[in-house]
Amino acid sequence: MYAASADMGDSCLANADGDFLIVPQLGTLCITTEFGKLRVAPGEITVIQRGMRFSVDVEGGRARGYVLEVFAGHFVLPDLGPIGANGLANPRDFQTPVAWFEDRQCHYTVITKFEGQLFSADQNFSPYNVVAWHGNYAPYKYDLSRFCPMNAVAFDHPDPSIFTVLTCPSAIPGTAVADFVIFPPRWTVAEHTFKPPYFHRNIMSEFMGLIRGEYDAKAGGFKPGGSSLHMCMTPHGPDTISYEKAILPVAEEPAHLPRDTLAFMFETYYTPRLTAQALGSSSMERGYYQCWSGLKSHFTGSKSPAPSQAEEARPLAESAAA
Ligand SMILES: [Fe+2]
Repeated sequence: MYAASADMGDSCLANADGDFLIVPQLGTLCITTEFGKLRVAPGEITVIQRGMRFSVDVEGGRARGYVLEVFAGHFVLPDLGPIGANGLANPRDFQTPVAWFEDRQCHYTVITKFEGQLFSADQNFSPYNVVAWHGNYAPYKYDLSRFCPMNAVAFDHPDPSIFTVLTCPSAIPGTAVADFVIFPPRWTVAEHTFKPPYFHRNIMSEFMGLIRGEYDAKAGGFKPGGSSLHMCMTPHGPDTISYEKAILPVAEEPAHLPRDTLAFMFETYYTPRLTAQALGSSSMERGYYQCWSGLKSHFTGSKSPAPSQAEEARPLAESAAA
């Protein structure tokens, strides 16, 4: 997570370790790269790949947001499978800079991140002296309001992977080095379905953030700019208040999720490690687990009888992909 109150001035950063995916939550970033300029506002994202020099000016003097760094591979669009050629994030909506350059003598500092350490070098000219470029290894930005969600229209609840904007694939199907997923405003129309995120545990560790609004499964407990982290196989789901609201009969009706809400998730099958700063932060919510403490069973069926010999085993009909 980042926070900034000053421009980088005559200095730039290049990441030799991997690619950055930057999600502004507050304040527009005016990013100069060797390829040209990108203006990235909250509600948009940008990807700046390994090795690219870039500087950030903070429009309005304040900026806050999130960064996901991947150390292997690059972000790509997910395979659409039976969705076909169009949907989710469409290639046409990704924008890359047009060439921009300056021929300027100055005292300039180039900071390089390499194996997690920062190194600096001074030079007497601006690095943004690239007059023109071509190729397909270039930074880009994407407006998340362009995302075309796919959803259940009859019953049942799709996995959140249906909201994947970008993925950095791993060699193992069903997992990813990292996925970037959003929960955009959309209609929910499924019947006989618990509509908020279901209770689950899974291989991917999930870091969630909120760009704006109020997320439908964390009543009152998730502020824009905040975050949550659910590690591999840790059970989680909606808090008690959201759950109780979601099982009321009225929750069966078609509804639109708040149009001003935009939450996202970074998912990875690697194990994220918390920094000492995060663990020691005064803003860390130490009683988070209590949001589930009021959950109670609503099961009204009768006790199931002891299974007969024949019922103890059954065909494994579903794939184990989940
Ligand atoms: Fe989850």
